Amino acid sequence: MKRIAILIAGLMLFPAYAEDNRHPIEVTVPQQEMILEEMRDYVATLQEITGGLAVSDFNKVAEAAASMGRGRMTGERMEMARQLPEQFRMMGMSEHDEFDAIARDAVDLQDKDHTLEQLSTALAKCVACHAAFRLQLK
Ligand code: HEC
Repeated sequence: MKRIAILIAGLMLFPAYAEDNRHPIEVTVPQQEMILEEMRDYVATLQEITGGLAVSDFNKVAEAAASMGRGRMTGERMEMARQLPEQFRMMGMSEHDEFDAIARDAVDLQDKDHTLEQLSTALAKCVACHAAFRLQLK
């Protein structure tokens, strides 16, 4: 009984949903689709990178990482990105740069610890952007 009382008091002190202070980015449906697809590609790429690292396959690491580099931002993708707010776009581009650096160093250095450190930096950018922004349909 006492445990339940403590639990209830705890839930009242710390509500499950904190206030959402993320800055809304206004997007059209195609922009939203493009952005969320890119996000899912990031997750798939992280799986390939960590899978490659686990077996010291640096070519696999490099190939996966390069697929999320700046080279991806051509044609229609770049056109869409140009229409997004500057700060959001800059954060997005700097994330692509992280993946290019992972790809480059994986081949040049073949150093797992170094790649892990770079992954941590790249993941910190995912976390930072998610904390700062959310999408909102126009
Ligand atoms: C430039 C900003 C930015 C960066 C960098 C970023 N994200 Fe996102 N991500 C977003 C936004 C905005 C959303 C939508 C969140 C919302 O509207 O609630 C999102 C959504 C997602 C989703 C949900 C996808 C879906 O289909 O609903 C995943 C998964 C995700 N991000 C993974 C990642 C990973 C992994 C990284 C880093 C490698 C990353 N993101 C980097 C901005 C970013």
